[in-house]
Order: sequence, then C-alpha cells, then structure tokens
Amino acid sequence: MNKKDIYKGIPFDKIPWKRETPPNILINTIESLAPSSSHLLDLGCGLGHYAAYFAQKGYKVSGIDISQTAINHANQLFGIKNLKGDFYELDLCKTNDIILPTIELAYEFEVLHHIYPEYREMYVQNVSKLLSEGGYYLSICFSEKDQNFGGEGKYRKTPIGTELYFSSVEEIQDLMSSHFKIREIKEVELEGKLVPHKAVFCLMQKVKF
Ligand SMILES: C[S@@+](CC[C@H](N)C(=O)[O-])C[C@H]1O[C@@H](n2cnc3c(N)ncnc32)[C@H](O)[C@@H]1O
Repeated sequence: MNKKDIYKGIPFDKIPWKRETPPNILINTIESLAPSSSHLLDLGCGLGHYAAYFAQKGYKVSGIDISQTAINHANQLFGIKNLKGDFYELDLCKTNDIILPTIELAYEFEVLHHIYPEYREMYVQNVSKLLSEGGYYLSICFSEKDQNFGGEGKYRKTPIGTELYFSSVEEIQDLMSSHFKIREIKEVELEGKLVPHKAVFCLMQKVKF
C-alpha cells in the first residue's frame, strides 16, 4: 500500500481509526496542559475530526498529514462546521521549510506506528523544529504488547493493508530523549473503535538541555 495515501480506495466509514470525538486520554491530557487559547498542532491529523473538536473548544488548530485526501477532508469539515484551521499536506519524515507560529502543544494519535524506525529520527527532528520552546509534545502509538491488530511482533500488516511498526516503551524513550524532556511515559490501553489497543503514551516538553 502507498504510504502517501492510505485513504485512497477505502470508504471513509470503513477506516478503523475514524472517530468523530477524540478519546478521553487525548482530551484530558491536552486540556490539563494547554489553556483553550493555545495553538495546537495535530501531527498526522487524518480526516480532521479531532482537530475540529479542539477548534470548537476555542483552540487555534493546525494539522499536518502526508495524505492529500485527508487534508482535503479536514478542510471540507472545517468549512462545513464554520471553523478556522490551517492544514498542510506534508511528509513529516522529510526535510521541509514550513514554519508555524507558536505551537504550544503538538500531539500525534496513532501515527508513529506508521513510521518505520529508520525514518523516526527525521520525524522527531521535524516535530522539535515546529514546536515552541517550552511546548508540550504528546505521542500515543501502538505498543508491541498489543495483540488486537495485525497479529504479533513489531512489523505487522493490518487487514486494510497498512504496514506498521509496533514499539516498546524503551524504544520511544531512546528516540525522544535526545530532543525532549520526557515528563511521563507509560503503557496504556486505548478504547479503540472496534477493540481496545495497547499503546505507548509519551508526554514530553521541549526545553533547553
Ligand atoms: C492511523 S491514522 C490516524 C489519524 C488521526 N490521528 C486519527 O487518530 O484519527 C495515521 C495518520 O498518519 C498519517 N501519516 C502517516 N505517515 C505520515 C508522515 N510521514 N507524515 C505525515 N503524516 C503521516 C496518515 O496519512 C494518517 O492520516
């Protein structure tokens, strides 16, 4: 499957992660760290439903996704709901010259497992570049302990054809700790649209070392 557009050829309602309301773990963490005047960046924003939820709460929201189909949908959704948001089609594993004003919190929900280990350093460098000094970065991606999606092991192919890499807490810690101060890292269970999933939750802050 072409990683550039995993939405092509699938009806939106069949997409296993498509949910209109963010999971509580995302809402609670974001709302406890960032007042509703903050600028949020949704990394791998997909169809834009989570970004729309936060925009409706008063946050300024920007979103990035590698898929043009997803970005078009997010823009349409914001148009229908009469919300303001900026969406960019961008591969976060490649160098870019995008500059966004004062991102106070960047989050990614179920995105990093789409990125194989050899591309993650560039991805994390890009996130660090986009985030303001003192800003928070929340990453929630599938854990290697999950047994409900794509079989077992680290490299998995899912029923819809996506090829994923499931991480351990230690790997995420090693990846993130040279760029960010890790505030909390743990295994969590996500509600999931069909079945629950085990995931690695990592909350970080961009601070001078
Ligand atoms: C499982 S979906 C999650 C979408 C959204 N965060 C949600 O929870 O509904 C993963 C998303 O990451 C995007 N993605 C994967 N690799 C990416 C990359 N290198 N740069 C930007 N976005 C990427 C995909 O296009 C997809 O929208």
